[in-house]
Amino acid sequence: MDDLQPGLRRVSATDLSDVGDDPALLRRIRDEILATGPMPFVRFMELALYAPEGGYYRAASARPGREGDFITAPELHPIFGQTLSTAIEEIWRRLGEPTPFVLREHGAGTGTLGLAVLNELHRVRSPLLDAFRYAPIEIEPDRIGALESRFARSGWDGVLAAPGETGGDGMVLANEVLDALPVHRVRRRVDSLREVAIELGPDDGLVEVEIDPSTPALAARLASEAIELIDGQTAEICLALDAWIAAAVSSIERGVLLLIDYGAPAAALYDPVRRRDGTLRAYLRHQVHDDPYRHVGRQDLTAHVDVTAVERAAHAAGLTTIGITTQAEALMGLGIEGRLQAIQADPATTFEDYSLVRSALVRLLDPAAMGRFEVMAFGRDWPAPDEREPPLGLFSYRLPGRADRRC
Ligand SMILES: C[S@@+](CC[C@H](N)C(=O)[O-])C[C@H]1O[C@@H](n2cnc3c(N)ncnc32)[C@H](O)[C@@H]1O
Repeated sequence: MDDLQPGLRRVSATDLSDVGDDPALLRRIRDEILATGPMPFVRFMELALYAPEGGYYRAASARPGREGDFITAPELHPIFGQTLSTAIEEIWRRLGEPTPFVLREHGAGTGTLGLAVLNELHRVRSPLLDAFRYAPIEIEPDRIGALESRFARSGWDGVLAAPGETGGDGMVLANEVLDALPVHRVRRRVDSLREVAIELGPDDGLVEVEIDPSTPALAARLASEAIELIDGQTAEICLALDAWIAAAVSSIERGVLLLIDYGAPAAALYDPVRRRDGTLRAYLRHQVHDDPYRHVGRQDLTAHVDVTAVERAAHAAGLTTIGITTQAEALMGLGIEGRLQAIQADPATTFEDYSLVRSALVRLLDPAAMGRFEVMAFGRDWPAPDEREPPLGLFSYRLPGRADRRC
């Protein structure tokens, strides 16, 4: 399947039958349905991921990583963060080397990406390190505590921004966060647009029903993107994007918003052949399936990001597009291949080290896996393109035959 993360396999839900649901969360969902009627899917997803009692992201421990439910690029190997540090330093230089320079990482998780960036800046003795402040942002406060302890153990607690600390120049970074924002699910039925909602079945289980759209914004979003779903087609629409992006960049006076995620421009995302059933997926113990109503509160739920909607939201928030590309192209442009060669040439590299980094690189670049993630950069008060300067490394490499921008 083209939608699977590398290393994941599609399974029948019975393989995960010992997992169960979060009982308190399921009770809350049932009570809300009993009190107010069918629950739009967007509300179900919000509760399943974010409810303080039982929501998947509110668990004390972050779940990316080999022990968790899925692996992300930063958790796969530090070479991802090391390579990204080149982009961060380049952005800092283009902005005139401001001090302080704050990197706000939304969905910082365990802090793995931030640590890889810092360790690399330290290794290359980057002058950015003197200006660097790191502000991790997480939905679950306990996770920030764990991240701070990890930074302290690594000797990097001095770079952590104090709560509420602001700095006008910097970057906002979110890797695999937008795909977790709650989405509405809609379905085309002949001439009308219906919204997917949840009801209680005869045995009190959760069953899908279709209701009138809960907001005209759903049809308006599709119309604004010239999308016409075909009869029976299901699609996800993330109306939360606009407010999320506006809030995320509100603290930046000058700088860059860098988003990396599963996604596609609207025309491809809503393709009636390839995406007839939408892109909603559930991740649990490194397996993926498409039943969001099992393992409630105990599995991750994601939907591909609408890159067209992201770009519009960024423009509405006062940003301009710097570039949009794939992760494979971005990492190639930032010189990830040269890093691999340097690791190979280093006499201190063991065979095991080399094998690990090489297999990580294959997964990061594979255009059928993480390599096709979208990398989207938007600037506020970003210097106008100057012909004398080369493009940012992030956007300097194009796979043969690919157009310059795809939105
Ligand atoms: C798929 S994980 C990615 C973690 C990390 N960025 C990485 O690449 O390894 C998503 C992370 O985003 C966090 N998250 C989800 N929604 C969020 C939101 N609205 N604001 C901040 N963090 C959020 C989750 O708690 C989780 O740690």
